Amino acid sequence: MRQTIDPHNLPQHIAITMDGNGRWAKSRGKLRVFGHRNGVKAVRETVEAAAEIGIKFLTLYAFSTENWDRPESEVNALMTLLVSAINNETKTLMDNNIKLSTIGATQNLPQKAKNQLIKAIEKTKNNNRMTLILALSYSGKWEILNAVKELIKKRVNPKNLNEQLFQQYLTTKNVPDPELLIRTSGEHRISNFLLWQIAYTELYFTETLWPDFRKDDFKKAIIDYQNRERRFGKTAE
Ligand code: IPE
Ligand code: IPE
Ligand code: MG
Repeated sequence: MRQTIDPHNLPQHIAITMDGNGRWAKSRGKLRVFGHRNGVKAVRETVEAAAEIGIKFLTLYAFSTENWDRPESEVNALMTLLVSAINNETKTLMDNNIKLSTIGATQNLPQKAKNQLIKAIEKTKNNNRMTLILALSYSGKWEILNAVKELIKKRVNPKNLNEQLFQQYLTTKNVPDPELLIRTSGEHRISNFLLWQIAYTELYFTETLWPDFRKDDFKKAIIDYQNRERRFGKTAE
C-alpha cells in the first residue's frame, strides 16, 4: 500500500463535488451562507494542491441545475459569493499559472457573475500549468440533452455517430474523462454530475465537510486512487 503520491501515476483529471457547506454552518449555529463563505478557503487550498501535484484538469461542481430550486436568498448569496471569489482568487490563478474555464448553462447566471467570469477567463487564457473548470448551472442530463439537440440541428448522420463524435458535443470536449471523482460530506451519490464522463471513473467519498477540506485530504484521495486496480471491464492479467 502506497502512503505517498506516486508522481508517475497521477490522474490527469480530478472532479470534486464540494458538498456539506450547509451542514458545516448549521453545526456551528450559523446560517447556510456562512458555510458557503468558508468553502472558499477549501477551494483555494485544493486548487493550489492540484497544481503543485501536477494535475492537469480540476473540475469543481460549484452550482447544479437543481440548485436553482433553493430559496432565492441562498441562490443570491451564492451568486454574490461567486463574483467576489472569482475577483479575489484571480491572483491565485495567475500566481499558479492556472487557466480558468466553465461548463454548464452559464448564460443563466446573473450578468455580474457572467462579466466577472469572462474577465477571469480572458486574463488566465494563456496559463498552461493546469485548467480549473467550474461547473456552474451544470448537470449531466442537461449536458447530454444539449449535445443531442446540437447533433440534430447539425443533421449529423446516425451512421457517423460514435462515442468520439458524441464527446465533441459535450461541454467537456478536449478534456479527458476524470480518473477520480471526490465527494465530500458523506453523501454517496452522483447528483447529476458528469454522467457521461464518469463511466469508468474511480469514486472517492469522504465524511469531511467541504469547508474543512484541505491539501492533505486531497492528497489522501489521490493516494487511495493510486492503490486501486482499474480494470475497465477486462481481467487483471
Ligand atoms: C455544497 O454545500 C454547496 C452547493 C451545493 C452550492 P451544500 O449547500 O449542499 O451543503 P449541505 O449539503 O446542505 O450541507
Ligand atoms: C451537489 O450537491 C451539487 C454541488 C455540490 C454543486 P447538492 O447538495 O446540491 O446535492 P444533493 O441535493 O445532496 O444531491
Ligand atoms: Mg449538499
